[in-house]
Amino acid sequence: TPEREPLKPGDILVYAQAGGEPRPIPLEELKPGDPFVLAYPMDPRTRVVKSGEAKNTVLVVRYPPEELSPEVAQHGVEGVIAYSAVCTHLGCIISQWVADRRAGLCPCHGGLYDLAQGARVLAGPVPRPVPQLPLREEGGLLVAAGEFLGEVGVRAQRACCRQV
Ligand code: FES
Repeated sequence: TPEREPLKPGDILVYAQAGGEPRPIPLEELKPGDPFVLAYPMDPRTRVVKSGEAKNTVLVVRYPPEELSPEVAQHGVEGVIAYSAVCTHLGCIISQWVADRRAGLCPCHGGLYDLAQGARVLAGPVPRPVPQLPLREEGGLLVAAGEFLGEVGVRAQRACCRQV
């Protein structure tokens, strides 16, 4: 179904919400220091929100640009950055903001991600950062500028193992 299509470059980011008209995310609505928001990609042509696939869940947050590492900032817009919201441990959604550490928390097992620094792992049983999603701005709205910069979600186990 179109709701389960993968995110594509050019998709418009809209607030994750249950039902109602999709609401694109204006850059100016995000303030540095505010908690991240969860979002889904919307096909700009059909206006279908691709919320039927958990791997399309994105978190969007704004930092003062000087707090971002250059590698992260280059894929953002004026301090606004986005990542996959799918925890790389067991696939829960990173849904909580820890204000005093300015980090994203996965509530399932306490995975904590430093979003300003490439989502490096600060705590929890998390094997690797979540991949960043490059952004651009179009008419004041946030748009995916590319694919995720890495594998989304839980890494598949290698087919295992040859007995010796
Ligand atoms: Fe996120 Fe375990 S699924 S910490």
